[in-house]
Amino acid sequence: MELADKHVVVTGGGNGIGRALCRRFASEGARAIVVADLDGDGAKAVADEIGGTAVRVDVSLEEEVSSLVENAIEANGPIDLFCANAGIITNGGLDDSNDVWDRIIGVNLLAHVYAARALIPAWVARGEGYLLHTASAAGLLTGIGQLPYSVTKHGVVALAEWLSITYGDAGVKVSCLCPQGVRTNMLMAGGEDDSNFLLPGSKAPEEVADVVVEGLRDERFLILPHPEVAEYFQRKAGDYDRWLRGMRRMQAAVTALRD
Ligand SMILES: NC(=O)c1ccc[n+]([C@@H]2O[C@H](COP(=O)([O-])OP(=O)(O)OC[C@H]3O[C@@H](n4cnc5c(N)ncnc54)[C@H](O)[C@@H]3O)[C@@H](O)[C@H]2O)c1
Repeated sequence: MELADKHVVVTGGGNGIGRALCRRFASEGARAIVVADLDGDGAKAVADEIGGTAVRVDVSLEEEVSSLVENAIEANGPIDLFCANAGIITNGGLDDSNDVWDRIIGVNLLAHVYAARALIPAWVARGEGYLLHTASAAGLLTGIGQLPYSVTKHGVVALAEWLSITYGDAGVKVSCLCPQGVRTNMLMAGGEDDSNFLLPGSKAPEEVADVVVEGLRDERFLILPHPEVAEYFQRKAGDYDRWLRGMRRMQAAVTALRD
């Protein structure tokens, strides 16, 4: 897909990766860009900058996601590309409360289901439409010290695979963006010391946006701004037990740094 003349909706568009996607889509000549975010001020700042439309939305609420889709179609016609990108993180394990699990499942996983439900019937009828899911390398590999985050991101990868398998022949395109560290509020909240082990090798959001535009152009399912993730994923599939031993070593090193 080329972005020129397209109608695009980006959730989590007010900051970080979503903001970089909005800016890049604008420079590619997208016709209409809807910047949707829980951070209404952030969405407005980005929309004002690129001549888009800001919408304050909580993607964990299905009625807000359906309204976002309906209103965008009413204003700009059919949606060509929807980027389900909003996300949150917790650096927790079994001690995370059920409330934390409910929230992160709502934002990181169910929001993608709500978007697919709202979008896909019209796309099947039209014979085209493109859904970009922002998952994470943690959705392919499991993040050290990030239990609910990794579980939700694995869920997004499975959802994206299922949608592609089920609706690909009806003209629906699906891509899954799986970055490792990206220098946004989310990563920087982990601090800048050695224990933030994703910081070395991290990318700027603009670099991620470049790779996304290239991936969309090629209509590639898996979009990997950090090419080494493909290698780690292959090693995991090639020898799961060896991979787990390596991850335990990494876990021990991170624990030592944090103690
Ligand atoms: N930064 C990284 O290292 C990294 C790595 C892999 C994947 N990701 C994923 O990239 C996506 C974007 O994250 P980012 O790094 O740009 O972080 P970010 O915190 O800069 O941006 C996330 C955006 O999502 C919005 N948001 C949060 N909850 C929302 C809700 N309920 N409804 C609507 N909007 C909501 C926030 O307001 C924010 O603008 C996330 O899905 C994240 O999991 C990030």
